[in-house]
Amino acid sequence: MKAKIVLLPGDGIGPEVVAQGEKVLSAVARLWGHQFDFESHAIGGCALDELGEPLPVETLEACQKADAVLLGAVGGPKWDNPQAKKRPEQGLLGLRKALGLYANLRPVTVHPALVNHAPIKADRLFGVDLLLIRELTGGIYFGEKTEGTEHAADVCAYSRKEVERVVRLAADLARKRKGKLTSVDKANVLATSRLWRKTTSEYIETQTVGVELEHQLVDAFAMHLIQTPKRFDVVVTENMFGDILTDEASVLAGSIGLLPSASIGDGTALFEPIHGSAPDLAGRNIANPYGTILSCALLLRHALKLEEEAKAVEDTVWRAINEKVWSKDLVAEGESYFGTEEIGEQVVKWLPQFCPHLIEA
Ligand code: IPM
Ligand code: MN
Repeated sequence: MKAKIVLLPGDGIGPEVVAQGEKVLSAVARLWGHQFDFESHAIGGCALDELGEPLPVETLEACQKADAVLLGAVGGPKWDNPQAKKRPEQGLLGLRKALGLYANLRPVTVHPALVNHAPIKADRLFGVDLLLIRELTGGIYFGEKTEGTEHAADVCAYSRKEVERVVRLAADLARKRKGKLTSVDKANVLATSRLWRKTTSEYIETQTVGVELEHQLVDAFAMHLIQTPKRFDVVVTENMFGDILTDEASVLAGSIGLLPSASIGDGTALFEPIHGSAPDLAGRNIANPYGTILSCALLLRHALKLEEEAKAVEDTVWRAINEKVWSKDLVAEGESYFGTEEIGEQVVKWLPQFCPHLIEA
């Protein structure tokens, strides 16, 4: 197949991890006979520096025309001035909104070789397989803001339609998995959460079969997520709760650097690791590229419908982690590790072993 993929490396370690993603996608194209055309564009802090906008028009237009977008990370202390009118993060938020990407899928699995990496007892981690779904274009992130020196406010708003479309997607995905859906809110305090809960219950009762729904309050869920992570399957929640809970969930996996994400909705889908720009690690070849490489697998699966290729990338990463091809964040202080580029190269080297037509030949 032919596909146009826009790369948005962004800031900090973004360019280094996206380079590994590009390597892996190019290898997939070579091995399976696809043609992927890559185009790189500026977003975030580097776009502010170069073009004066965190989301330049040409970047947005390129994404709209593409089949998929792969993003690294945005932001950094260089642009942290509280007086600044424009921030790198607005680039990413603006892109999600403009592309109508209302659902952010963040799968969390624990590799058995890494169970001792988390500050949680190993027996609670074996077999963790979660899919957290974060609403991505509504809530407090996008409500009206008032910002003064003595008073500030962020409005949190949701419409029934916004809740229903993300719940529909979550229910569809839950049905293909274990059929368990947990909806997380703060319905004992927030009006938006009460609408969220009512809409979710009604949708599941009237529109779905084979999905068992449970509601949890966000504070209790934050605790259960690390106490008994195995009892959850698919979790759906609003924008800010989802941002916070997925960073928490990454602790189960052993490092935030391992986790990928897919943002899907009306327009071109966007794929990015869940970690940030980690400016202190930038330019040192020590960033963990697995989150980005696994985001490429999600890109192959969700945007290009190439399941075999997606699975091959995931299996290759699984093997690399199993054989201790570990980045600096995964080893103890003073132990040797693989660099960002070396990990990308190792994945490319082993990928053919997971390519069915090459194995049969
Ligand atoms: C994420 C990030 C972003 C968010 C920031 C960079 C705006 O933390 O993708 O999780 O809060 O959504
Ligand atoms: Mn986040």
